Amino acid sequence: MGKVKCIGILTSGGDAPGMNAAIRAVTRSAIAAGFGVKGIYRGYEGLINNEIKDFTTENVSNIIQRGGTILKTARSKEFMTPEGRQKAYDNMKAQGIDALIVIGGNGSLAGARIFAEEFDVPCIGLPGTIDNDLYGTDLTIGYDTTLNTIVECVDKIRDTATSHERIFFVEVMGRDAGFLAQNSAIASGAEAAIIPEDTTNADQLEQFIGRGIRKSKNSSMVIVSESPKCGAMYYAERVRKEYPEYDVRVSILGHLQRGGSPSASDRILASRLGVGAVQAILEGQRNVMVGIKNDDIVYVPFSNAIKNDKPVKKELINVLGILSI
Ligand code: F6P
Repeated sequence: MGKVKCIGILTSGGDAPGMNAAIRAVTRSAIAAGFGVKGIYRGYEGLINNEIKDFTTENVSNIIQRGGTILKTARSKEFMTPEGRQKAYDNMKAQGIDALIVIGGNGSLAGARIFAEEFDVPCIGLPGTIDNDLYGTDLTIGYDTTLNTIVECVDKIRDTATSHERIFFVEVMGRDAGFLAQNSAIASGAEAAIIPEDTTNADQLEQFIGRGIRKSKNSSMVIVSESPKCGAMYYAERVRKEYPEYDVRVSILGHLQRGGSPSASDRILASRLGVGAVQAILEGQRNVMVGIKNDDIVYVPFSNAIKNDKPVKKELINVLGILSI
């Protein structure tokens, strides 16, 4: 692989507020460093289908405040095949792109890792996911905004829960990770969070009811991590059957959690990581995710970022338990 002259940038997987701020930061810092920049549309799909455009600083004007991603996004099945990746590589070469910056979550960085292993292409990842589940970075782009959106929603639901004296199970996103559920529960003063990381054998519903919350309060908010089998509906059904004296409702927040203007924290994070990604290329780094640890920019090998589990701190579980009595 020769000297990098042109950087391609794409967003992939679920969109996250702050992705545009990252695209802006990568584009502007790359141009400032003398690189050419090309925007690749619809993630890896766009690389395969050659949906690629030259980017100037104007392409990223007036986007720092916008949610979603101006580059569009996709979850590409074809990129999972060797043939798909070969097509992507051929297009990259034909377009003169010699390094790739991928903004996305677990699946997207796993794709970048395989691609970088198969072809001699420096790939740099930026953690862009509301789930905050990438190892080696304290925060991912989009997480803070989504957390704030959830808290705003839970505050509103609480008004009606209190008025009707109901138990509400509010289901939030996060895929297999409970960061959004646990921290939104703390921030909204919820009575409990049910998260996948709490792997003790104890039944989390029994624990919540057993704490006798309904004896002292006339309503309860329980934040539940999404799950194919044990989501908010599952727990609501159980309460209806096992504790028919309680009036129960479910609210599944869904995709509204991923939308909206990014918070100041997400904009700053995305700007720092975007500049960090270009710096990584200048330093000759390859196949790393640029993350943030104790307020410092760090490079995390893809293999660590993707494979290792990032635990929800026990302390956070304790804090919610103590404060919800
Ligand atoms: O990974 C981000 C995320 O929003 C998860 O929290 C959620 O499980 C998933 O994406 C939803 O994906 P889709 O938008 O494809 O339904």
